[in-house]
Amino acid sequence: MAKKTLVAASAITLSAMVLTACGSDSDSASGNDDGSITMGFAQVGAESGWRTANTKSVQESAEEAGFELKFSDAQQKQENQIKAIRSYIQQKVDVIAFSPVVETGWDAVLQEAKRAKIPVILTDRAVDSEDTSLYETFLGSDFILEGEKAGEWLVENAGEMDVDGNGAINVVQLEGTTGAAPALDRAEGFASAIEAEDTVEVVASQTGDFTRDGGKKVMETFLGSEKGIDVVFAHNDDMGLGAIEAIEAAGLEPGKDIKIITVDAVKDGMAALAEGKISFIVECNPLLGPQLMDLAQKVVDGEDVPERVVTEETTFTQEQAAEVLADRQY
Ligand code: AHR
Repeated sequence: MAKKTLVAASAITLSAMVLTACGSDSDSASGNDDGSITMGFAQVGAESGWRTANTKSVQESAEEAGFELKFSDAQQKQENQIKAIRSYIQQKVDVIAFSPVVETGWDAVLQEAKRAKIPVILTDRAVDSEDTSLYETFLGSDFILEGEKAGEWLVENAGEMDVDGNGAINVVQLEGTTGAAPALDRAEGFASAIEAEDTVEVVASQTGDFTRDGGKKVMETFLGSEKGIDVVFAHNDDMGLGAIEAIEAAGLEPGKDIKIITVDAVKDGMAALAEGKISFIVECNPLLGPQLMDLAQKVVDGEDVPERVVTEETTFTQEQAAEVLADRQY
């Protein structure tokens, strides 16, 4: 499959950025005295409920596996992730894992890790690189499939989604972070699923950066600029929840006057789905920690691992959300 990207941005000092699960930020030689593994994990940020759940899963799983985890939050900035990875290389960690904020621009730093003989695992998001020898494996969702599931459900439920009943379904799309794999792939999958359906059209599409605030602001703009919006397709729950706030502030009823389809299925999104404000959610599973630690152990032990590990996911209707909401972990 095609590998993916990156972008750039501002800076925070690395000392403020790099935290460690074990409360220490000191250098560690490869292989701890007790034989445990040191992992450097460069997280995207804390932009969404999904990300918070993913961070918790990684931190808890590292502790359970007995790993020393050096964790950094890049605040959605590629340059911060690159600095964190360079710091992990300097600290001679045993394995580096990261979720690339954008798809392109990683080759140089990944070459540095390779020269230092530190294996890299991609988790959640892919990089766009011709050189697949720069990482051992990629663990995460099939984002194109997620977009397809959203589009297919819309087409199957076209009658209900045509809110004004005029035979044309106007969709506005709230995109994830520009250049990020889930934003590019969900847009691609959704577009391919609605392609053959002449009545469905994406009339406006803009990034909300995967945040609630971003989704709200972009939705406010769409409500001012677009006439006859039937459906919002938000690339994650948080932007969909922001859109709900904007729709309600405009005196409209989400789920009735404007239908909303999202991706993730975090607890807040599922509550809005069960309440009828969201119509359909495609699940994206953030609980990648246990599989990540398992893969990291194998990689450090020199065992073969699959090139690609795809996360298993489902979808939720309003009725299904109501059934599982109370037991939703995140
Ligand atoms: O990469 C996964 C995506 O990133 C999630 O869908 C979104 O909520 C998060 O910010």
